[in-house]
Amino acid sequence: MTAPHINALYPGSFDPVTLGHLDIIRRAAPLYATLQVAVLRNPSKRTMFAELERVAMIADEVRDLPMVRVSTFDGLLVDYARQCEARVIIRGLRAITDFEYEFQMALMNRTLTPELNTLYMMTSQQFSYVSSQMVKEIARFGGDISALVSPAVQRLVQARIKEHS
Ligand code: PNS
Repeated sequence: MTAPHINALYPGSFDPVTLGHLDIIRRAAPLYATLQVAVLRNPSKRTMFAELERVAMIADEVRDLPMVRVSTFDGLLVDYARQCEARVIIRGLRAITDFEYEFQMALMNRTLTPELNTLYMMTSQQFSYVSSQMVKEIARFGGDISALVSPAVQRLVQARIKEHS
């Protein structure tokens, strides 16, 4: 079932984008007219990649999906959703540990904007343990991240770690 007139928004930090995120994007995109991947611009949070680097990284991975757009946002997600004319927020759920935070966020966003719904997609099993945090930690200690991110993202993460060592 698709919603050809509905725009969806997939927000996150994406520092960096993982195969788990890309799996959600690829599964969600065909369900909507457009899927806007929105990278949080948060100067107070230390990130491995600047927001425009994260945008470029994602755009490169989804260039075969014409309905997917990539942008940055700051401020409240609900305000950005309104600006994009998105009626649905997409989030991925990995494990039960994600649930509490996601539940709180979905309820808060719905309190702020009742007409905006958050839809959760269960991660594919092989990505259920993948997080951007873990990717960075494993890479910093020289571990193999090839099962967690694309080859292009792997090269960028390793280059960034080398620059900082
Ligand atoms: O990938 P993340 O870090 O789990 O994504 C979290 C994100 C960006 C979706 C969330 O922090 C967010 O929406 N931030 C924008 C500020 C906001 O609207 N806060 C209120 C929602 S609880």
